[in-house]
Amino acid sequence: MKPTIIIAIDGPAGAGKSTVAKTLAKKLGFLHIDTGAMYRAITLAALRQKADLNNQAKLEQLANESKIELKPSEPENKVFLNGEDVSKEIRTPEVTQASAFIANCVPVRKILVARQQQMGQVDSGPFGGAVLEGRDIATDVFPDAQYKFYLDASVEMRAKRRLKDLEKAGVPSTLDQVMADVKARDDRDMNRPVGGLRKTSDSIVMDHSQLTVEQSAEELYKFIRQHPR
Ligand code: DC
Repeated sequence: MKPTIIIAIDGPAGAGKSTVAKTLAKKLGFLHIDTGAMYRAITLAALRQKADLNNQAKLEQLANESKIELKPSEPENKVFLNGEDVSKEIRTPEVTQASAFIANCVPVRKILVARQQQMGQVDSGPFGGAVLEGRDIATDVFPDAQYKFYLDASVEMRAKRRLKDLEKAGVPSTLDQVMADVKARDDRDMNRPVGGLRKTSDSIVMDHSQLTVEQSAEELYKFIRQHPR
């Protein structure tokens, strides 16, 4: 039996990973797994229960008890937590902020990594493979992925995109503020002791600061077509 094709897309926040992964998965007929949404769902569960975000045993229990489903949908995929659609709620600034605690919790990471590995095994389903996006896909979740992309973009470009999203959502901010925020998130993501954002020796690094997310998805698609594995 042919092994499932796994496409790992890692990279910093705001590099456009989610839209690129979704577009690419659609083009290929692959399942799209947004692993960040899973960390966000656990964060929401913890905030709702007013859990102490430093209590690792509590967070582990929450992760074990939480059923997270990622459902393909247009224009955005949907995320369900214990059967409830939480797609919007997991994107609030409060969840973004608190998600760092969940991402730093090693027992939670173990649970989510195992679930992601299971979800990626799509050989018996309708999908030809899986596109997983996050921070630790190529390093921890699927170190044997056939394609390992590291999607980068400059701090300024990522901040500009983020500012646009905030404006759309009616959240007032400034470029300076958002740039400081992006840098702080990079710092947290890269210096996490477990599951930190890193390139692997075989990562295909792409800096798409000058491309739209659609163009970026097209570049990855072309690369895959030109390098069958
Ligand atoms: O990509 P995002 O902003 O939706 O990620 C939400 C949080 O989860 C953020 O704190 C980074 C973290 N994360 C992680 O630690 N590992 C992943 N594979 C994906 C996200």
